Amino acid sequence: MINFFDPSYEFLKFKKEYIKIFSKVINSKKYILDKETMNFEKNFAKFIGVKYAVGVNSATDGLTLALKVLNIDKGDEIITTPHTALATIAAIIDTGATPVLVDIETDTYCIDPDKIEKNINYKTKAIMPVHIYGHPANMSKIKNISKKYKIPIIEDCSQAFGSMINSQYVGSFGLLSVFSFYPTKNLGAIGDGGIIVTNSKKYSNLLRQIRQYGWNNKRVTKSKGANSRLDEIQAAILNYKLKHFKSMLSKKVKLVELYNENIKNYEIIKPKIQENYTHSYHLYVIRSKKRKKLINYLNSNQIQSSIHYKNDIVNDKIYKKFCRFNKNDLGNFLKLNKQFLSLPLNLNLKIKEIKFISSVINRFV
Ligand SMILES: Cc1ncc(COP(=O)(O)O)c(C=O)c1O
Repeated sequence: MINFFDPSYEFLKFKKEYIKIFSKVINSKKYILDKETMNFEKNFAKFIGVKYAVGVNSATDGLTLALKVLNIDKGDEIITTPHTALATIAAIIDTGATPVLVDIETDTYCIDPDKIEKNINYKTKAIMPVHIYGHPANMSKIKNISKKYKIPIIEDCSQAFGSMINSQYVGSFGLLSVFSFYPTKNLGAIGDGGIIVTNSKKYSNLLRQIRQYGWNNKRVTKSKGANSRLDEIQAAILNYKLKHFKSMLSKKVKLVELYNENIKNYEIIKPKIQENYTHSYHLYVIRSKKRKKLINYLNSNQIQSSIHYKNDIVNDKIYKKFCRFNKNDLGNFLKLNKQFLSLPLNLNLKIKEIKFISSVINRFV
């Protein structure tokens, strides 16, 4: 069977180095918010091209904390996309605010900026675009709307570490931007982790405070807060992986290029990249109107695939009642969400495996 994803590959590849890192951290006797986290925060901010980065326990926490430092509360509305991981929506709801769902574009699958303005009202307190699968959302149009209405942008970059628009990394467009280090992500930890980046000293200080009970750096309580810290082991591992990230990403892009060259079936729509955008391929997602049949067919050929996302927010029994949306306005999402299918994309996939998967797909009718 060709597995959909196997996170152990990236760890086994660097196992020796990781064992050294574990011993170093264990011997340091400092396991939470110390040198490793500070170094990683500095390096990560530098990589993205922003001034500050604040490590947290997960991107879900990061999104909630980013909303909280902007004083988002019950009664407020946050404009976002229905086509995202449940985490984006759960983070907004956790603050008491209402996610307002805006339809997606048919080519990038990200929020359609031309449909944002009609959803803005006096309750709108932020726009939260998601760079889905690793394709950047249209940040130039979203920034214009943000300026026009003076509404801040919080980028959900959980799936898009390494994605760029005109050579500028995503995460550097919003007032606050959040990345996930969940093990399957482009920069994955051996466990949970996330980070919030910003150019604002004020918000980075507030975030440092509320990630740890509301303490300032002298452990004096200044506000309410949570416990959401990136631990030293994860930070050290991520710091090491960050150095290898560009070569890992270029390997992934080569695998994607092989898929793009080899899949030739008019039933299948391959991912498209907008001009001047760089995709980081957290996932390689095709579309098929005969998805169920295709999944079974791939399975019978020993190829795993996966759907992102099965738990569609507008039909989610628990979450849908906390959101504001009109199904009639979500035509693209409702149509395309039945067609998305993610193909295997491991760094350990062999050229012959990609060619095999492509040839199997080419025979699908
Ligand atoms: C778009 C998006 N937002 C948020 C998250 C939440 O990330 P985490 O698991 O680090 O909380 C994820 C992860 O699945 C995601 O894909």
